[in-house]
Amino acid sequence: MKKLYFGTNLKMYKNIRDTVDYLQKLVENTRDISREEIELFVIPSFTSLQSAAEQVDRRYVKLGAQNMCWEEQGQFTGEISPLMLQELGLDLVMIGHSERRHVFGETDIEENKKVLCALEHGFTTLLCVGETGEEKDYGISNEVLRTQLIVGFHGITPEQAKKLWVAYEPVWAIGVNGKPASVEYAEEKHQVIKACLRELFGAEIADEIPVLYGGSVSPGNACSLITQPSIDGLFTGRSAWQADPFNQLIRDAMAAAGRG
Ligand code: PGA
Repeated sequence: MKKLYFGTNLKMYKNIRDTVDYLQKLVENTRDISREEIELFVIPSFTSLQSAAEQVDRRYVKLGAQNMCWEEQGQFTGEISPLMLQELGLDLVMIGHSERRHVFGETDIEENKKVLCALEHGFTTLLCVGETGEEKDYGISNEVLRTQLIVGFHGITPEQAKKLWVAYEPVWAIGVNGKPASVEYAEEKHQVIKACLRELFGAEIADEIPVLYGGSVSPGNACSLITQPSIDGLFTGRSAWQADPFNQLIRDAMAAAGRG
């Protein structure tokens, strides 16, 4: 049976101490869950990464960065190099979160450069995709998702694609003002994403790429989302930022999916 994926992006929240405390508690809470069954990952702030990497048992939780530059070094003030992230021994890099795209104006072509660079440096690479509310209203969600995937993964070989993960996060569903996608809508878009991945990399490799749902995941919808055939995991924000409720959400979702 395939693993279930559970992860969270801590965005611009939590200082170093709070991040380490949170991660250590999450490890304690979930230690008894077999990592053959789940992949658990957390993406903290850059300033917390070094302490987290040193003080957290990585057999239980993978650590990722929220963003990365496509160059190794140079005149890129304010950016973080893949070499800097390699120094920390991180597991994964997230590219193209909706806030990077829509608050900071990143384009699909930039995400593609970052994805290529992250893969070349050996990171598992999580590309986030998702349509805005306006794009949904115009009926072009599928086209937007396909564009983000086709451009975002341009030039990636099927061999490299074995290190890809995808998160589907409809922009209108994310954050305090978001409303969660219906389970039916999420499943339909996951099917669109999976079909596009098959076109790009062939079925054998594409079907191994986990596609996670994110955007107002909560204890109220986690179980019905995770039991959808095309949803491989949950990428959770607010509902995961305390270790106890996140642990409970994971266990409830696993039980709903007939695991554990
Ligand atoms: P949310 O965040 O679960 O708080 O809506 C999701 C995300 O931005 O990844």
